[in-house]
Amino acid sequence: MRVLVTGAGGQVGHELVRAFVGHDVVAATSADLDVTDRASVLGAVTTLEPDAVVHAAAFTAVDACESEPDRAYRVNALGTRNVADASRRAGAHVIYLSTDYVFDGTKPTPYDEWDTPNPQSVYGRSKLAGELELAHDPAATIVRISWVFGVHGTNMVKTVLRLAGEHETLRFVDDQRGRPTAAADAADLIARLAVERMGGVVHATNQGEVSWFEFACAVLEAAGLDPGRVEPITTADLDPPRPAPRPANSVLDDTVLRLSGLPRLPHYRESLDRVVAALRA
Ligand SMILES: NC(=O)c1ccc[n+]([C@@H]2O[C@H](COP(=O)([O-])OP(=O)(O)OC[C@H]3O[C@@H](n4cnc5c(N)ncnc54)[C@H](OP(=O)(O)O)[C@@H]3O)[C@@H](O)[C@H]2O)c1
Repeated sequence: MRVLVTGAGGQVGHELVRAFVGHDVVAATSADLDVTDRASVLGAVTTLEPDAVVHAAAFTAVDACESEPDRAYRVNALGTRNVADASRRAGAHVIYLSTDYVFDGTKPTPYDEWDTPNPQSVYGRSKLAGELELAHDPAATIVRISWVFGVHGTNMVKTVLRLAGEHETLRFVDDQRGRPTAAADAADLIARLAVERMGGVVHATNQGEVSWFEFACAVLEAAGLDPGRVEPITTADLDPPRPAPRPANSVLDDTVLRLSGLPRLPHYRESLDRVVAALRA
């Protein structure tokens, strides 16, 4: 297969390029291909004629999206329109990465692929707009991931380890719950979905749900540090408050993987141990 990866310089993008080893992978960073540049996207995709386009490029700074909504929609919604349109012209299978933040978090149980999104933040709304750009294409795949961590890029694991080196006590909220997703595990699954050409929405998160407080404790444990150094706080305790509202419950159930027989991602603790070991090596 020939595969084009957008956002190849990001934390998931890096892992996607690795996961497609053995295929003809074209890794496009933001410098190589700006997805908001419609002519460039149409030109690149129709020239390359890939079998699959994995669209990982996005404006992912959740709080910054609140103050830069036009940028959020330009990249996440219109950028996805450009990728979808170009892929349709080239006959390529599109796989779009989306987010747990398309949900409002009021459901008392995990969200499955058929639950109705109701995003509360500009980021969530712009990512849902990207999903809607693909809604009329039953062959397209929308892979929702959440709380991504890995070796590349900025993420919560790196933040916790950095803060642990700077402060004795760390504080994280205990009233937002989700399922961490190792970028490498999600990328491996996406490579499989590309080969299988499975369309529709797929939730691809690791097993195990936690609050941010519990996740921070797990990061310290994985690093051989004392998890007792982390104190739970509530979202209301955050000073200053974060600009973007976060869903209290953004736990994604991987119902499609469970029912379809496709491989489910391992428990997040396994992958966390691997990532922390790599970061501390
Ligand atoms: N991180 C999470 O916790 C999380 C959770 C759920 C879903 N997701 C989704 O997963 C996907 C990958 O996220 P990630 O964590 O890998 O994010 P990331 O590390 O921020 O990577 C996103 C990449 O997109 C690139 N990009 C931004 N604007 C672009 C543009 N106009 N044209 C082309 N590329 C552009 C960025 O390049 P520059 O750095 O050069 O701007 C960056 O390399 C995104 O769709 C995101 O919405 C992420």
